[in-house]
Amino acid sequence: MKIDGIHYRTIWVADDGWSVEVIDQTRLPHEFAVARLETVEDAARAIKDMLVRGAPLIGATAAYGLCLALRQDASDEALDRAYDMLLATRPTAVNLKYSLDAMRGAIRAASGNARIEAAYACAARLCDEDVEICRRIGENGLRIIRGLSEAKEGKTVNILTHCNAGWLACVDWGTALAPIYMAHDEGIAVHVWVDETRPRNQGASLSAFELGAHGVPHTILPDNAGGHLMQHGQVDMCIVGTDRTTATGDVANKIGTYLKALAADANGVPFYVALPHTTIDWDLSDGVREIEIEQRSPREVTHMTGRTEEGEIVTVEISAPGSPAANYGFDVTPARYVTGLITERGVAPASREGLLTLYPERRHGGSK
Ligand code: MRU
Repeated sequence: MKIDGIHYRTIWVADDGWSVEVIDQTRLPHEFAVARLETVEDAARAIKDMLVRGAPLIGATAAYGLCLALRQDASDEALDRAYDMLLATRPTAVNLKYSLDAMRGAIRAASGNARIEAAYACAARLCDEDVEICRRIGENGLRIIRGLSEAKEGKTVNILTHCNAGWLACVDWGTALAPIYMAHDEGIAVHVWVDETRPRNQGASLSAFELGAHGVPHTILPDNAGGHLMQHGQVDMCIVGTDRTTATGDVANKIGTYLKALAADANGVPFYVALPHTTIDWDLSDGVREIEIEQRSPREVTHMTGRTEEGEIVTVEISAPGSPAANYGFDVTPARYVTGLITERGVAPASREGLLTLYPERRHGGSK
């Protein structure tokens, strides 16, 4: 996608041919800055501290993290150490493991320089695949938005989204936002309700930044406003992303997604989840019990960072000093609240059978 007319991906190999550059998302929306990663520790820190975030981009960064590790030491032991370090950075998004396993599989047989070259080639391939997958998700979701637009005889389609599942969460395009960009580009009138997504505000800071840069009409909402809008017919559909989806269609996504799904169900608003196959955890069947939910620092709840009118970036305390805070990163929306899963292969009901219809090679526990 473009910023000020220049096309960016969220991650790329620098001009030196080996170090890795990423858009530092902790500085957005007030500052567009690029961070350079030179070691596997840099990559692990970038994921943990959320310079990069969003399930597909976490996977892509981990892939390049392995490349950086191998440049320092291409032995099997170093590979295993780097794999474990990167896997431990964030527990909920399963794309991380998918990526690390794909990398390990692709480079295991090689050694020395050939292993390093194979690693960079595999990381680049995973990134290219992510871009193509997101493009297809966009096309499949676009058909749904087009249908709603036709049903509304061209009146604006109002879409609610939570967190950031746009191009900043992926390598390019995004998952939940890809259909919206395509609809806008096609001339369909769309307007996006952007949940601010406390505590880190990925909606207010990242989704709003992306949509604004692309010229898509949008409005930022406090997280608790969605139910009211749905009751008053102001939301035609919801589209969110996901960090891990079980084989039965239960969806883990940014905390607060579940409440939006409940409100959508109560008000007859279609609730779609957009995802690449790399986000499906075929080993799990009960998302509420089996998906590990990341717990992050309470400081993200008690403090907030923003820009003063003088242009200074400051962090302030916003809650009663000394009060404890809980910070669950994600929640799980049971499949029964999900209208459909928008994937690169098409749209399926959120169920085991629905997913297996799209991914028949998984029917008998088949390979990835
Ligand atoms: O904590 P984050 O910012 O990594 O959470 C991101 C989300 O919850 C996204 O909705 C999800 O990763 C899907 S991204 C295509």
